[in-house]
Amino acid sequence: MNLSGRRILLIIGGGIAAYKALELIRRLRERGAAVRVVLSKAGQQFVTPLSVGAIAGQRAYTDLFDPASEFDVGHIRLARDTDLVVVAPATADLMARMAHGLADDLATTVLLATDKPVLIAPAMNPRMWAHPATQRNLARLAADGIATVGPNAGEMAESHEAGTGRMAEPLEIVAAIEGLLGAARPLAGKRIVITSGPTHEAIDPVRYIANRSSGKQGHAIARAAAAAGAEVVLVSGPVALADPPGVKVVKVESAREMLAAVEGALPADAAVFAAAVADWGIAQAGAQKIKKGDGGPPQLALAENPDILATVAQARTQRPRLVIGFAAETEKVVDNAKAKLARKRCDWIVANDVSAAGGVMGGDRNTVHLVSASGVESWPTQSKEEVARALVERIAAALGG
Ligand code: C5P
Repeated sequence: MNLSGRRILLIIGGGIAAYKALELIRRLRERGAAVRVVLSKAGQQFVTPLSVGAIAGQRAYTDLFDPASEFDVGHIRLARDTDLVVVAPATADLMARMAHGLADDLATTVLLATDKPVLIAPAMNPRMWAHPATQRNLARLAADGIATVGPNAGEMAESHEAGTGRMAEPLEIVAAIEGLLGAARPLAGKRIVITSGPTHEAIDPVRYIANRSSGKQGHAIARAAAAAGAEVVLVSGPVALADPPGVKVVKVESAREMLAAVEGALPADAAVFAAAVADWGIAQAGAQKIKKGDGGPPQLALAENPDILATVAQARTQRPRLVIGFAAETEKVVDNAKAKLARKRCDWIVANDVSAAGGVMGGDRNTVHLVSASGVESWPTQSKEEVARALVERIAAALGG
């Protein structure tokens, strides 16, 4: 695979297998990748910054508190200005520090600061590899989404012990990198607009009506789509969530503002409407705070809000190829979703049961059914992140990614 234009940050840990990291750099550069290297303190016992720098074609980074390098790129930029972080060799100690989120040197700080995929190539003595502590750390890292290549079985370089613990060969690591960079970007070149969160409909400058929505599912979809390489515009109502990395976030309050922001973000290849838009706004929002008075509580006249999903799904120009709505239902989940699909004329509805028993609202798990013209698929209960990743995979397949 041609890796030209791809940026790889290689972290070399301290182990005899570090010598193989030099060949790994060569192989990656042969394929066109730009390789930046962070050499851990222990790594420097095995290979020197000079040899690494010569092979990488640029200086190696070694120290967290080196004022010259902090000025030059800095650990946050090292962590972010890359497509993939590779740790080779990943020693037992480095894996333990990663599993615990320590950040006491440049290598671990970069690993904690990065929002990019991470691949580790463990290398250690077979007994250290088999130790329950290492296996526990490995499971923790896998749960954090970190990919692993190797270790292989065979004779160790430093002793004549055999067993599992040899670092994967450079070409095996290259193949794992190609797999991650290729498979990880099925939405490259695609533009996706996503709505998330509630809308707030002003009653007056201090009061509003709204739907319940944490925005967790919509934000997770934005994150997953960006990780899959899409250019993402996230139109979000008021939420207490951080902006997903690598996503253009447009913050809005009301349904009308949300519609305008969505229309402004088109054209797009796909649009996902995960926001819980208020169906009604206040017909005449007060310009001043409404006072409690003798007249009793005010009578609020409601006015219907635009249906953003239906508007975009039925647009004559700039209709995205794939328009996906959500349906939060408390009963007859699938039947209601089918009716909604027909009424709004979108392509898919992700229907979820939000009756109190499920704990979906504000929670981290979701049970959804994917409803389309070709039928209904019921997905297992899973985290909102997993729902997001699965949905993004389906979007990529539908868009031919
Ligand atoms: O009709 P209902 O509100 O149940 O439909 C839910 C779907 O429609 C969700 O995808 C939601 O984001 C979208 N929607 C919208 N604009 C509205 C109301 C709902 O985009 N005004």
